Amino acid sequence: MCAMNRRTVFSLVAFAAIAMPLLSANGGEEYPELPRRITGETDEARAERMAWWRHDRFGMFIHFGLYSVAARHEWVKSLEYIPDEEYDSKYFSRFDPDLLDAKAWVAAAKRAGMKYVVLTTKHHEGFCLWDTKTTDYKSTNTPFGRDIVREFVDACRDAGLKVGFYFSLMDWHHPDYTVDIGHPRRPQDKRDWTEENFARLNAGKDMARFRDFMFAQVRELLTGYGKIDIIWYDFTIKDKFGKTYKDWNAVELVRLTRRLQPTAIIDSRLDLMDTDDGWDFVTPEQFKVQSWPTVRGKRVPWETCQTFSGSWGYYRDEETWKSVPQLVELLVHSVSHGGNLILDVGPTARGEFDARATERLDGLSRWMHWNSRSIYGCGPAPDGFDAPHGTILTYNEKAKRLYIHLFDYPMGFLPLAFLDKIEYAQFLHDGSEVKIQPPATHHSQSGDQKGALGGLVLPVKKPAVDCPVIECWVKQTNKEN
Ligand code: GLC
Repeated sequence: MCAMNRRTVFSLVAFAAIAMPLLSANGGEEYPELPRRITGETDEARAERMAWWRHDRFGMFIHFGLYSVAARHEWVKSLEYIPDEEYDSKYFSRFDPDLLDAKAWVAAAKRAGMKYVVLTTKHHEGFCLWDTKTTDYKSTNTPFGRDIVREFVDACRDAGLKVGFYFSLMDWHHPDYTVDIGHPRRPQDKRDWTEENFARLNAGKDMARFRDFMFAQVRELLTGYGKIDIIWYDFTIKDKFGKTYKDWNAVELVRLTRRLQPTAIIDSRLDLMDTDDGWDFVTPEQFKVQSWPTVRGKRVPWETCQTFSGSWGYYRDEETWKSVPQLVELLVHSVSHGGNLILDVGPTARGEFDARATERLDGLSRWMHWNSRSIYGCGPAPDGFDAPHGTILTYNEKAKRLYIHLFDYPMGFLPLAFLDKIEYAQFLHDGSEVKIQPPATHHSQSGDQKGALGGLVLPVKKPAVDCPVIECWVKQTNKEN
């Protein structure tokens, strides 16, 4: 009960920390001293660099670390204020995911239609999944003894999926990392969150030393594993007793990232929203956007990051798992609003995806096997195509095809206000024609509205697909097309 309350408090803190930069970015400048541009890259070059990511739309997050052994949230050390010695003697010394097979992780992502995979190389607990020279706190020093990042990268490359590194800016293990409101050593009673208390807790700690350590880690990751496609820095707790971009020397961190990996795509959690190029995409977390996110009035690339259940790391007893139809809807909804979806799996302490995750991934595989054409390379429908009730539309601009996702399967007929724009229609899962019924030229004697609009004639029985999709060829009025 007590743990639940703390968790609720924490998700609020995390949400505020992530939402605030977005709000401030829309509302004006928070840091007038920051230059608008820090890398010198043109907007065109950036758009080109991100073309594959915008096209692919769907990725997998993998959260794996010592917390997977505790199996009750990746923030467990902070949520339960666990001292270092206890955490390490229980989890570090027992970390041995003997069933871990990075190829199997990546194969599951690929089957589900995901095109990129982002692994937590280090989460907030500070434990490194690679054989770093910067610390002993790494997987190669545990009973497991393997460089998980290396195995992961090799598996992604073999499978032809893009490689992403999540890297936590926070580090609860490093002695120089200052205590903030997310840290396991913060005062447990909020009333004790005072200047004096944080100053006392942070006496002798030196963020400059921590930054050197962090930069060295980033250098290793970005030079030791070949081409990295995405780097996901996470995150800046914006609070009086939190951090800002200055704590990370974020401007230099972005420049370093660009130097070492010129094509890598960077997320937006370095507290650099006042710059135009200190981030590539925004990251609405566990939240379905209502409209295409904007920054300073302009639509920006975005990716919603979501868990299957309520935790990123493996959480044995958590049961708020999203269903397959909910996940399909989330994916389609994201694409129809111009964004990407990254779905998270937290492997078990033995290194495998558990049955609940596997079941969801299998459901997504089934759906994507037939319907991925309505996802890849797609975005919102053009003006003039209003989604009929119970449907979501996506559109492939290049192929000029419109996709009608039937979440609320109609009874035999789908009236369409934009029927005159459709040349041909078929079900996507089996390529069978869906007949177009033009509007009637006479008044209906039975008082129904069927004839008035015209529409698509569907089988009464819903096809055996979680969400059937109709693929429509859109008439091209422009002669050049
Ligand atoms: C939040 C959480 C973190 C998770 C991340 C993924 O920042 O602190 O646990 O890794 O979101 O987006």
